Amino acid sequence: MISSDLFLQACRREPVTQVPVWYMRQAGRYQPEYRKIREKYSLVEICQIPELCSQVTKLPVTQLGVDAAILFSDIMIPVGAMGLDFEIKEGVGPIIDTPVRSAADVERLRVPDPEESLSHVLETIHMLRQDLTVPLIGFSGAPFTLASYMVEGGPSRHYVRTKQLMAGNTPVWNSLMNKLAEMVIVYMKAQIKAGAQAIQLFDSWVGSLAPDDFQTYVLPTMKHIFNALQETGVPLIYFGVTSGELLSMFAETGANVIGVDWRVPIRSARHRVGQAKALQGNLDPVMLFAPWPEIERRAKSILDAGLEENGFIFNLGHGVLPEVEVAVLQRLTAFVHEYSSQKW
Ligand code: CP3
Repeated sequence: MISSDLFLQACRREPVTQVPVWYMRQAGRYQPEYRKIREKYSLVEICQIPELCSQVTKLPVTQLGVDAAILFSDIMIPVGAMGLDFEIKEGVGPIIDTPVRSAADVERLRVPDPEESLSHVLETIHMLRQDLTVPLIGFSGAPFTLASYMVEGGPSRHYVRTKQLMAGNTPVWNSLMNKLAEMVIVYMKAQIKAGAQAIQLFDSWVGSLAPDDFQTYVLPTMKHIFNALQETGVPLIYFGVTSGELLSMFAETGANVIGVDWRVPIRSARHRVGQAKALQGNLDPVMLFAPWPEIERRAKSILDAGLEENGFIFNLGHGVLPEVEVAVLQRLTAFVHEYSSQKW
C-alpha cells in the first residue's frame, strides 16, 4: 500500500502540499468503539494483545482521517518490564504501590530486553506496518516524567518527593535517570527496528521544573538519549506541557521536532527553538468544547503562524479529553487539510 508521507516530510522540514495533523491521545475514551472494547478488556490487556492493540491504533486513522498513527500503549508499560508493578486507575492515572526512593530501589530496576519482555509491543508494530497507509509513531515516556510516577507512587501536584530526590540526593537521582535513559534508548531502538517511523518522547510533567533545574538534572539525560537515537535516522519528537520557558533548551536536546503546548504562541515558539526544528501543536484541548466558529478561528490562527516556515505539524497542545465529540475532531482534521492546502 502507498503510505502518505506528509507527516514525515513536515518532520524533516520539507515543503508539503498541506499541513499534516494527528492528535495526542487520538485513540481513547472519546471514541464509542474504544469504550466498547474497554468494557471487556483493561488498558494493559489491550496493550498485550497485538490484534486488539493494532485495531485500537488504527481506529482514529480511519475515523478522523489523520496523517499519522500513534502506537496504542502507555508510558507505564516499560516500567512494568523494569520490574515495578503498577496499576492504571480510571480518572486518576498510574499508581505504584512500592515507589522508588533509595539507591537500593534504583539498583533493583532492570533495563529490559524489549525483544523478550516487550515483544507484544514489537509484534503490534509489525502488524500495523502491514496495513497502515500513514506513518506510525512509536513512543516512550521521558525519564523525568517516568521518574515522577515511580518516585511519587502516582500522579502528583507538587512533585515533592521527586524534587527532594533530585536536589537532596543527586547521586541516586542521577542513577535513576541513567537507568531510565538506557531503557528509553533500547526500547525506542527496538520500536524503530520493528517499524516505527518516528518517535515521540512524552515529558508531560517536566514543565514543573525551573529552567536551571531542567538544565542541571534533566537536559544531559535528554541529550544522551536523542544523541543515541540520531543514528536511526527517524524523526525524534520531544513534548512537554507548560514547557514554554524550557523550549530553547528542548531545542538543544537533539530532537528534530518540538511539541508545543497552548500556552506559547507558535511564532514565539519558533523564536525560542530556532529555524532548525519542526514544531508540533498547539490548540488548547479544552477549546474543542467551544462553538465551531471559535475552534475554526483558533485553528486558522495557529495554521497562519505555522505555515510561515516549513516544518509544521498540527496537533493539540495536550491529549484529547474523554468528553470530546468525534464529529468535532473529524471537522477539525478536514479543516486543517482544506485551509492549509488553499494557503499553499
Ligand atoms: O495517544 C494515543 O492515542 C496513544 C495512547 C497513549 C495512552 N497513554 C493510552 C491511555 C499515550 C501516548 C499515552 C501516554 C501517557 N500515559 C502519558 C503521556 C501523555 C500525556 O497525556 O501527558 C501519560 C502522562 C500517561 C499516564 C496515564 N495513563 C494517565 C495520566 C492516564 C489517564 C488516567 C485517566 O483515567 O484519566 C492513563 C491511562 C490511559 N492511557 C488512557 C489511555 C487511552 C485512558 C483510558 C483508559 O483507561 O482506557
